[in-house]
Amino acid sequence: MNAADHFARQGWRVRLFDNLSRAGSDQNLVWIGAQHPSSLDFKAGDVRDADLVAEAVRGADAVLHLAAQVAVTTSMADPLGDFAINLTGTLNVLEAVRRGAPEATVVFASTNKVYGELENLDGAVTEDQPLDFRTPYGCSKGAADQYVHDYGRSFGLQTVVLRQSCIYGRHQNGSEDQGWVAHFVHSILAGRPLAIYGDGHQVRDLLDARDLCRLYELAVEPAGPATGQVFNVGGGPANARDLLQVIAAIEAASGRKAEYRFAAARPGDQRRYVSDLARVTATVGWQPEIGVDAGLTDMIAWARSLVVP
Ligand SMILES: NC(=O)c1ccc[n+]([C@@H]2O[C@H](COP(=O)([O-])OP(=O)(O)OC[C@H]3O[C@@H](n4cnc5c(N)ncnc54)[C@H](O)[C@@H]3O)[C@@H](O)[C@H]2O)c1
Repeated sequence: MNAADHFARQGWRVRLFDNLSRAGSDQNLVWIGAQHPSSLDFKAGDVRDADLVAEAVRGADAVLHLAAQVAVTTSMADPLGDFAINLTGTLNVLEAVRRGAPEATVVFASTNKVYGELENLDGAVTEDQPLDFRTPYGCSKGAADQYVHDYGRSFGLQTVVLRQSCIYGRHQNGSEDQGWVAHFVHSILAGRPLAIYGDGHQVRDLLDARDLCRLYELAVEPAGPATGQVFNVGGGPANARDLLQVIAAIEAASGRKAEYRFAAARPGDQRRYVSDLARVTATVGWQPEIGVDAGLTDMIAWARSLVVP
């Protein structure tokens, strides 16, 4: 939703293709429709439906493939469903581009989960880190990441793979299963208790969605420097925080006190993940501009605006 809004603001005609399975995406759709009544059109559809995807993609100048089954927990409960959405869905997008929009740049939202648990790694993670898919979600997104990259080599598509770390921002409807920053913000504002899986010292590098959207825009440049590349993308070392630090930052920015309890760590949960941004910065000149405190303050303002007084 943030990406669609960003591109429409930059003067693009945007087609949004989504099955609205994510809770809250229908409200986001109402919002974005009101922002861009003439430059954005919405097609309801599922990426598992190859014909609908082909129709939506035909003739596009750029394709951002962000639709996914996004939760590790759901992938553990339903690996076949996860595979169909994340892998078959991605192949449907790639084939639709190959046949109907071969000049389009395809940007794929991959994940830091392609690198596995990284038990013994203290520094920032570069793209040279060996792949190590864990959990069905890690496998389906990781395989999709490799397919997208390879469609560049095998079929000459213009592909960009972004291995995204923790993304947060306005319009994010987080839950316990995915989108934990949004989940923390909404819960703390509503006075709902949180469960913290593990000891709360898991570290992530947080990236504001507005910064990511600026990168999407650089990535879609036809035959630009990002074409054919794979980048790790997150907030980087300057925006690395552990869960308890994020809770403290939300408390400080919102003036609300969090309630939480600890529970057992979950499978596939990396202890520490911080993106090394050297490659993406050197290639396209991008780096995050919005620090964690400013980003959280903005997200809290949005979350508060949703609450009907
Ligand atoms: N948010 C993060 O921290 C993060 C980190 C790494 C990777 N990613 C990737 O970024 C992408 C966007 O994630 P997000 O956090 O914005 O999640 P999101 O749930 O807000 O966005 C995914 C969208 O895909 C739609 N969708 C789900 N299944 C679909 C299907 N079968 N057909 C069509 N649409 C479908 C959902 O309705 C939702 O609007 C995903 O590919 C995710 O794997 C996100």
